[in-house]
This record gives sequence, structure tokens and C-alpha cells, in this order.
Amino acid sequence: MVDLWCYFPESSHDPELLSAQAALMTPDEHERCGRFHFERERRLFIATRALARTVLSSYFPVAPGDWRFSNAEHGKPFIASPILRPRLQFNLAHTQGLVVCVVSAAHELIGVDAEMIEGGRDIFRDAERYLSLSERGKLRACPTPKRPRLFLAYWTLKESFAKARGEGLSLPLDGSSFHFEEDAIHIVLDPSLAEDATSWRFALLDASPHHIIAVAVKTSGAPLTLRITHIVPLGKAAEGTQLAAISRADLLK
Ligand SMILES: CC(C)(COP(=O)(O)OP(=O)(O)OC[C@H]1O[C@@H](n2cnc3c(N)ncnc32)[C@H](O)[C@@H]1OP(=O)(O)O)[C@@H](O)C(=O)NCCC(=O)NCCS
Repeated sequence: MVDLWCYFPESSHDPELLSAQAALMTPDEHERCGRFHFERERRLFIATRALARTVLSSYFPVAPGDWRFSNAEHGKPFIASPILRPRLQFNLAHTQGLVVCVVSAAHELIGVDAEMIEGGRDIFRDAERYLSLSERGKLRACPTPKRPRLFLAYWTLKESFAKARGEGLSLPLDGSSFHFEEDAIHIVLDPSLAEDATSWRFALLDASPHHIIAVAVKTSGAPLTLRITHIVPLGKAAEGTQLAAISRADLLK
């Protein structure tokens, strides 16, 4: 089981809620937050810390402000303290208007990415750089209005996979390809990655008409079960927690 927690921070501008969320941060996090130039970046940073801290506290009796995090070699955050048994794995992503957190005690390698679907982006330039030959072919064959969404489906899947492995941008992914089959999403991996593609499971979800989320989990071949919850950290729970999985027909036709 993997939990996907979603928070739409622009759904509330309650100043008391914002200051309560900010009060959860450590002095280091306040310092990082203060370095952002724009207010919307500061808000997203606070929302991300608040989501991670309150979500993790729903699994263990640890106060949200008491979690301490550290970062692995390429920046992937992990829980430094307290030491938990069983260990909890988590990963975070944020984009304009949405923060997400995946959590699992069962799987060690989990990753998530979220993006806002927007027009005006030079998709073909980015596709040359990040997509495989077969993915670029699918993009060209796709009806023009659907291209931004298909491009971001590939992009978020690649990022979620790279983030699950903890490598982020250091993992070259134009040699690996995602394929949308009737029953599931498959990856064909570049042999240089020395990774067993059949161990991985992926999910792609519409979080809103403008947001797409991808989750990657090394399940060692077991099916991926996702439990999705919308929350407002330190606020009231949002209604309507179902997100629709994106189907192959939705993406390619
Ligand atoms: C850092 C990176 C992992 C993701 O960055 P991003 O897409 O800008 O941001 P996301 O919202 O997806 O994720 C950011 C969060 O991932 C986590 N993270 C950072 N480094 C990570 C890593 N190596 N592995 C997993 N998670 C990581 C952090 O929690 C970070 O949030 P924080 O800095 O606020 O704590 C990295 O891949 C990157 O810089 N990507 C840039 C986009 C790109 O060129 N993608 C290529 C498409 S294939």
C-alpha cells in the first residue's frame, strides 16, 4: 500500500492557518524559506513542509514540529529523527497550486512528481531533450490539443522514477521509454541503468483539470495499491478524495 496525500494550498488564504503551518518549521527551514524571492514560492515551501510534517504525524505519535529531515547524496529527503520501526519512506513534489506527498512503510523506493498543465511551453524543444524516440513519435501522432498533457504524462513519470531512485536530474532518462498499455503503464529501461523494469509499478492521476501526478514504486512486481487523500495541513479535511487514474485512451487519442 502507498498513500498519496494531496494539498491544494490556494484553496485557503486564512492567515491564521498559514502562520500555524509556518510555525511547524525548524530554524533552518525558516532560513531557507526566507531566501525565496517571491511570496508564492515562500507559500509553497511552507505548504510543502506543513504537508510532510502533518502527514508523517498521522502514522506515528510524533508532533508535526518534531520531525527532523536530512538529504541523501542527490538531495532526496529522508527522516533523520526520530528513528522509526518500521521505517517510513516518503517523497514530495510541488507545483503551482498543488503539493503532494507519497508515504509507504512497505516499499523502500517510492517517488512522486506533480506538474501544472499549461499552454505556451515549447513542448517539442523539451521533448528533444528529455523524451525517448518512441515517446517523441507518440507525441507527434497525438492530436495537438492533447499534446501538453501527454508530454507532462511522460515528464512526470520520468521524474517520479528518477526521484524514487533518489537520483533526480542526474539520471539520464531519454534512453528509457514509457508505454501506455490497456492494463498498465510499462517502462523499457536503458540497459545502462542496470535496473529490472518488471520490479516497477507506476500510476498517473488527474489531480485537477490543470494538474497531473505520477507515482513510481519499486514493488518487486507486486501490484501497486494507492490510497489517495486530500488534506489541508492543520485545517479541515477537504471533501471528495477520489482521483481518477488516467487511461491510455485519454492520453493518446
Ligand atoms: C530536484 C528534482 C528531483 C525535482 O525537481 P522539481 O521537478 O523542480 O521539483 P519537484 O516538485 O518534483 O520535487 C521537489 C522535491 O523533491 C525532493 N527531492 C529533492 N531532490 C530529490 C532527489 N534527488 N530524489 C528524490 N526527491 C528529491 C525534495 O523534497 C524537493 O522539495 P523541496 O526542495 O521543497 O524539499 C530534480 O529532478 C530536478 O531538479 N528536476 C528539474 C526538472 C527536469 O529537468 N526534469 C527532467 C524531466 S525527465
